[in-house]
Amino acid sequence: MMIDLSLPKELAKDGSKPGLGVAGGNGKPVAGARPSAKRELPAFDAAMAREMEPLYAKVRGVITPMEWPSYAPLIREINRLKKERDAVIIAHNYMTPEIFHGVSDFRGDSLQLAREAATTTASVIVQAGVHFMAETAKILSPDKTVLIPDMRAGCSLAASITAEDVRLLRAAYPGVPIVTYVNTSAAVKAECDITCTSSNAVAVVESLGAKRVLLIPDQYLSKYVQTKTDVEIIAWKGACEVHERFTAAELQVFRDQDPGTKIIAHPECPPDVIASADFTGSTKAMIDWVKTNRPRKVVLVTECSMASNVAAETPDVEFIRPCNLCPHMKRISLENIYDSLLYLQYEVTVDADVAERARRAVQRMIDVPV
Ligand code: 13P
Ligand code: SF4
Repeated sequence: MMIDLSLPKELAKDGSKPGLGVAGGNGKPVAGARPSAKRELPAFDAAMAREMEPLYAKVRGVITPMEWPSYAPLIREINRLKKERDAVIIAHNYMTPEIFHGVSDFRGDSLQLAREAATTTASVIVQAGVHFMAETAKILSPDKTVLIPDMRAGCSLAASITAEDVRLLRAAYPGVPIVTYVNTSAAVKAECDITCTSSNAVAVVESLGAKRVLLIPDQYLSKYVQTKTDVEIIAWKGACEVHERFTAAELQVFRDQDPGTKIIAHPECPPDVIASADFTGSTKAMIDWVKTNRPRKVVLVTECSMASNVAAETPDVEFIRPCNLCPHMKRISLENIYDSLLYLQYEVTVDADVAERARRAVQRMIDVPV
């Protein structure tokens, strides 16, 4: 049985609203940055076109010849600046193709990015993704400089619950372990027993050996996990503003047009969408499924940049794109990544005590075998 909690609006003490910005970090360039550094981009001339041709060959299917001259100089300069700054760029699967294929060093879902952040030897990590991901990188790499190109890159799930809400849940459900999806602030993670991602949520819940578990804040991920485990899941009412908009009816239209079309959904989608899908999994699992199964035609029921990123590597697969964009992910651009490296902005910081407690929850997740 699954219990839905309908408390978030009453309990949200900080006035935060889904999708409206983020907490944490000072939003300023780091000390030692070069505020006088100049944006000097080389022109896209014949020599640069030749130099950048091998990269363009990889993305030709998803970046037009008209777009490439505006991306290529930035890509070249970002890759040069990364070496100068001893920096790596970790990019979520929802980044646009010029970021994903052009400048990122590590790509993946939330779990893969958390693991990379924990092991990289670079001094600077630039998060091409949203704020909770940058905070997770900082929690796991407290001695490194973690930058996010736009501090406003939030998340409707992270904004749906506060640390105070979790303390109230703890009081209301004494002894019940609290699992939080990584799509939450560091302050929320610090109040929880363990974190999870969409790729390991079932394993994490079952690793606790409890009969009941609070799984916050995504009501749909909780409902999905409930279908995979006998542990009783108590859910929160948060939702991803991108995935909650998909409907089973719109997917049925694609099936009716071509019954051979495969439908692959993310577990942040509503239950009727998941029920009508051929496969459900994290963004990494979705990508792996397409690469392994090579469907003739597929719908990726998730943020729409991901289809372009996979399409660049699977030209034999036709992607149908019901295009729901994440406005937070889309705040990250080549321009602001370039500025982030040039001016070392904007640094993401986490209070030492919060980071210590949040690290325990994240590390405990990383240690769960999947
Ligand atoms: P995963 O990439 O971990 O599946 O998460 C999707 C997401 O919405 C991240 O914001
Ligand atoms: Fe948050 Fe959804 Fe955007 Fe992911 S896609 S960052 S869960 S709002």
